[in-house]
Amino acid sequence: MLIRNAKDTAGKPIEVWLRGDTIAAIGQGLVVPEGEDVLDAKGRTILPAFIDTHCHWRTPGFEYKEDIATGSAAAAAGGYTFVNLMPNTKPVCSTPEIARAVEAEAKRIGLCDANQTVSITKDFDGKTIDHLLTLPEDIKFITEDGNGVMNNAVMARVFAIATERGLTVMSHAEDREISPWDYRLAENIETVRNCHLAEYYGTHLHMCHVSTKESIDAIRMSRLKGARVSCEVTPHHLLLDDSMVGEDYDTNYKVNPPLRTKADVAALRAGLADGTVDAIVTDHAPHATYEKDREFELAPFGMIGIETLLGLMLTHMVGEGVIGLNRLVELMAVNPRTILRDERVAIEPGSIADLTVIDPDAEWTVAKDDFCSKAQNTPFVGWNLRGRATDVFVGGYATMEDGVVCATVKK
Ligand code: DOR
Ligand code: ZN
Ligand code: ZN
Repeated sequence: MLIRNAKDTAGKPIEVWLRGDTIAAIGQGLVVPEGEDVLDAKGRTILPAFIDTHCHWRTPGFEYKEDIATGSAAAAAGGYTFVNLMPNTKPVCSTPEIARAVEAEAKRIGLCDANQTVSITKDFDGKTIDHLLTLPEDIKFITEDGNGVMNNAVMARVFAIATERGLTVMSHAEDREISPWDYRLAENIETVRNCHLAEYYGTHLHMCHVSTKESIDAIRMSRLKGARVSCEVTPHHLLLDDSMVGEDYDTNYKVNPPLRTKADVAALRAGLADGTVDAIVTDHAPHATYEKDREFELAPFGMIGIETLLGLMLTHMVGEGVIGLNRLVELMAVNPRTILRDERVAIEPGSIADLTVIDPDAEWTVAKDDFCSKAQNTPFVGWNLRGRATDVFVGGYATMEDGVVCATVKK
């Protein structure tokens, strides 16, 4: 296929010729064989496809919230070709068999590939870590997302094992004995401890959904000392703060980590601009409407995010001058591949053809009925955004064409 009439991030006109799963050539006035499919990109911008290092698709066990088909359609609609899935399913994903089954089903559906992480402690029991000793080599990422691992001795052994076995520890930092009375301290104390363990054992640590100024400071310091610590932030922690929850206690604002103060939002934005933050991620956390339709105290934590992330970030981070488009691409497409040890993708000959075309000028309003996700739990409904993905290619195959997610992937 020849993609004509596209632009690069600098706004320069560009043509991209895909052959098989790779980019064969880029340039202007490319001569391609007769009969080649041609896509008119209508002057839109072509980027390396987006990768989400933090996503929940709910299989197995919670398919009423989201399943692999709806999760991957939502991902394609958002411009994504790959997601890293959390293990807080039912049963908890503590075995390579569950992980492989989820990944194989995503491949079969063909709209978005997935890596399924495995839990740090078996069934999230907080102490059993024997399964880490027998993990096969294709499992590289462990996380307790939804929970912290509170016991220091257990976590120290986990970091030692992770270093020896080349695993990345992905940390949801929360001491559950502290969070009932101080959510901030609960995050900070585990962040500092985990950064220290990463320094001490030389482990690759990835800090999930960083939300406080103190966490950002701890990560920055730790990296200065040479620790292998990467980190991610979410759009909701960059755009919302605790003053917005409001008197009606709309449960769509209930998320973990919770919305923080305006000073924290400013610290996260500074981290985006100065390079401390490596990735912007969705923490796409679908829940059924009836589950969110309860008192604030009883409703589950989380919001969906994979279909709104790009629009929110283009409108508010790029649009308001916090970062530029190239830095956004780094945060959504380049660094996430490094964190997940995935092959680099770039708009250049020889690169894998995992590509997203965006229309940076498309104006749209977030509406519940437009989601491909099964869930609708997001506080961003009604927001007016500028910019969205229109076409997505995975390994040269289209998964979204001109704003419509493909029902079947033509291979
Ligand atoms: O808000 C959240 N939702 N935070 C988490 O840590 C878990 C997630 C979920 O699985 O719903
Ligand atoms: Zn989490
Ligand atoms: Zn999560």
